[in-house]
Amino acid sequence: MSQVFVIDHPLIQHKLTFIRDKRTGSKDFRELVDEVATLMAYEVTRDLVLEDVQVETPIGIANTKVISGKKVGIVAILRAGLGMVDGILKLIPAAKVGHIGIYRDPKTLKPIDYYCKLPTDVSERDLIVVDPMLATGGSANAAIRFLKQRGARNIKLMVLIAAPEGIAAVQRENPDVDIYTAAIDQCLNDHGYIVPGLGDAGDRLFGTK
Ligand code: PRP
Ligand code: URA
Repeated sequence: MSQVFVIDHPLIQHKLTFIRDKRTGSKDFRELVDEVATLMAYEVTRDLVLEDVQVETPIGIANTKVISGKKVGIVAILRAGLGMVDGILKLIPAAKVGHIGIYRDPKTLKPIDYYCKLPTDVSERDLIVVDPMLATGGSANAAIRFLKQRGARNIKLMVLIAAPEGIAAVQRENPDVDIYTAAIDQCLNDHGYIVPGLGDAGDRLFGTK
């Protein structure tokens, strides 16, 4: 069974309050999502493997460390996942970025895919799949399925808000994928929106309705 990490750092929780607030407009919403993505990336990358190196300082030789081994890939679930990419790239500027276009059919809530462009070497990368919302889990599972079909084996899912239903769905279909979230909310409403959540993440990021 995968693990679920709730990242409860005070800075993240503080900013998430303003992200949730319906009075927050698109400009501030975008900036806050970007900042929280950076802060969450710090935790999500906590287990990156280090290797020993030596560098010469102006005073002497330091036995020190650099990140070794596999490279990182960020995979945004369009649209709303786009809002989290730059925040992670601030910490991992060499990461490659993939995009998977998926939207939920408003009636069935089933994921509909319309785009996929990934780094060619996804199988060799530590992948972080990003989307602000994990509601039914249909979109995240569809994205992870795409990645696994292309050989990806090392996948983490990073969201801002998760519903218990979405966590259960991802754990059922992808027990190897750990989930990182800033909050676990109560439930889904009849339209598949997270309660209390933050509303429609894509619309709030991009000012659409
Ligand atoms: C939202 C959100 C997730 C999905 C979550 O996208 O960004 O991708 O819903 O719901 P699920 O867990 O039930 O699949 P949406 O379908 O609104 O598409 P958009 O980002 O293009 O607006
Ligand atoms: N997608 C969103 O943008 N918000 C939700 O609450 C659920 C799905």
